[in-house]
Amino acid sequence: MNLLSIEQSSATELQALIDLAVEMKATRGAHQTLPLTGQTWAIIFTKASTRTRVSFEVGVRELGGNVMFLSKNDIQLGRGEPIKDTARVLGRMVHGAIIRTFDQQDVEDFASYSGIPTINALTDEEHPCQILADLLTVREKLGSWEGKRIAFIGDGDNNMSRSWMWAAKYLGFDLVVAAPESCLPPKEFMDRLATDKVTLTTDPVEAAKGAHVINTDVWLSMGQEGQAEKEALFSSYQIKRELLSHCAEDFIVLHCLPAYRGKEITEEILEEHADTIFQQAENRLHAQKAVLATLVQK
Ligand code: CP
Ligand code: NVA
Repeated sequence: MNLLSIEQSSATELQALIDLAVEMKATRGAHQTLPLTGQTWAIIFTKASTRTRVSFEVGVRELGGNVMFLSKNDIQLGRGEPIKDTARVLGRMVHGAIIRTFDQQDVEDFASYSGIPTINALTDEEHPCQILADLLTVREKLGSWEGKRIAFIGDGDNNMSRSWMWAAKYLGFDLVVAAPESCLPPKEFMDRLATDKVTLTTDPVEAAKGAHVINTDVWLSMGQEGQAEKEALFSSYQIKRELLSHCAEDFIVLHCLPAYRGKEITEEILEEHADTIFQQAENRLHAQKAVLATLVQK
């Protein structure tokens, strides 16, 4: 009924969502059924967004529903009304909610107090919708993630890296995460993850060696702006030509965007791989339509 994290998902669910996303993409504009007909969904964001907001607004409408965008400043949440009260009100009025915020617990609480399908559109803990789009892109570009070596180079302890780690565990591909020591996931997380599919390193070259997919993200996530000391740790983790010389043949580069050229990725590498990266951005729409259609059926 909800998509709150990849952690709470399973191989079967992830595989089914990707299969449906492929179908959604192939039948865009000609869907046989519109499962959100008669429904109104709320999009509640306390952080900025381009891709997630637009893809959900378009996706809900393309599946027959109505959508309302509520930034925290539009509603009493921004003046301190508790999430559980917001949830109990909206749960009586709208049919589903898509939430982007800081604390994962807020999304979990919204889901349990509202009783309506709730989607995590990014928290500090996870970014499940993005990972679905990324997996779809890997499948389109490389055929499958099976047997592939996937590298995540950058902040190893953010929402993107964590969602990727859960996906590696459930789908069984090898993921290597390269980050400065203090930006690797802590032991408690790795104990909870409990998989041999994820390896950690501080060496970006070791991560890139033989990789079929190079994945990066901003060094400072939303809410960390201005942390110059953290940003300074990452200079040797930039995705640039020399680093990519260690990859497997026909590797792809993924970036969830927005990208900071000259920081986590060079301008030339981003532009060389723009075809993949913007396909990845487009895939947000198809993957999220699969999520919406699945949640309303349950
Ligand atoms: N990748 C992603 O979630 O982009 P937005 O922050 O623009 O939604
Ligand atoms: N890790 C990034 C992802 C942005 C889509 C952030 O949280 O800002």
